[in-house]
Amino acid sequence: MLVKDESVRFGVKAFKPLGASWAIRQALAARWAERFGEPLPENVFEEPGALARLGRMTFAAASDGNHGRAVAWTARQLGQEAVIFMPRGTAPARVAMIESEGATVVVTEGTYDDCVRWVDRDARERGWVVISDTAYPGYETIPTWIVQGYTTIFRELEDGPFADPETPAADVVLVQAGVGGLAAAAAWHLANRYGPRRPRLVCVEPVAAACFLESIEAGDGEPHPASGALDSIMAGLDCGVPSLVAWPMVRDTYDLFVAIEDRWAEEAMRAAAREGVVSGESGAAGLAALLALLRDPALGEARRTLALGPSSRVLVLNTEGDTDPEHYREVVDAARA
Ligand SMILES: Cc1ncc(COP(=O)(O)O)c(C=O)c1O
Repeated sequence: MLVKDESVRFGVKAFKPLGASWAIRQALAARWAERFGEPLPENVFEEPGALARLGRMTFAAASDGNHGRAVAWTARQLGQEAVIFMPRGTAPARVAMIESEGATVVVTEGTYDDCVRWVDRDARERGWVVISDTAYPGYETIPTWIVQGYTTIFRELEDGPFADPETPAADVVLVQAGVGGLAAAAAWHLANRYGPRRPRLVCVEPVAAACFLESIEAGDGEPHPASGALDSIMAGLDCGVPSLVAWPMVRDTYDLFVAIEDRWAEEAMRAAAREGVVSGESGAAGLAALLALLRDPALGEARRTLALGPSSRVLVLNTEGDTDPEHYREVVDAARA
């Protein structure tokens, strides 16, 4: 099994800045071109103060944690402000993590999907630049840039095990989905690089937030809201509505959609820890689905669809480290209790 470990990315413990930083760079370039009629200068990020010509900006986002930290982290690198709306029940550690980047955090009484709507509404009134990782009607460009940014993960693999452009190093790739941006990036990159020889792709969600699986099951080709309670411990995946940009790419490319219970994530976090890999709740979801596919008799047919067996070469993405350290320790130490 291959593991692409994103738990140490840029010191923020998750892959998310790959999307937010690229999207913000592109948004600044668009703004610069509109205002000054010329391309964003190459050295603008090295020259202190060069960006000041654009004036002060506040970047705003809804987030379960990691995307918000990524937006806040990027804003801080650029000397700009960030405001992040978070859903009810957000772990205090995730709030603190974002505040440590100098951002303002608003913990709301709603779900992640409510936060997406509220950020959009408030941004109009206050002139914030919305950096949403999910696309909705009338808002698709920035989420597309975020998906592009995530493809870096797969591009980096070409410097390692995926160096051969003809034959991928994995037969099966498991990708965890919240709004589906990461899953879309995997589809985009692997289908472009390998065409029909691409690995089989598995979209992994919590049972409590299975908007892709349920949309596929609906069978009308349209995205539908999840019926679950959006209360999985896999907080980054607790999204109730597929991103409009991600949905068609994921729908048309993935070979299998699975939804897993939280206990599989806990087991995967412990299994990763035994191998010396720090894998948080959402980070462990790909491995969790692999364990479920191998062990759960109810998933026998899915296992056969993937032709999963002892000689299968599988890639999983560890998309986050211990972003909620207290809960991480509770889960991992439970094995020793
Ligand atoms: C750790 C982690 N993994 C995976 C995902 C899923 O990414 P997406 O929302 O693009 O599907 C998220 C989303 O926040 C996340 O935080």
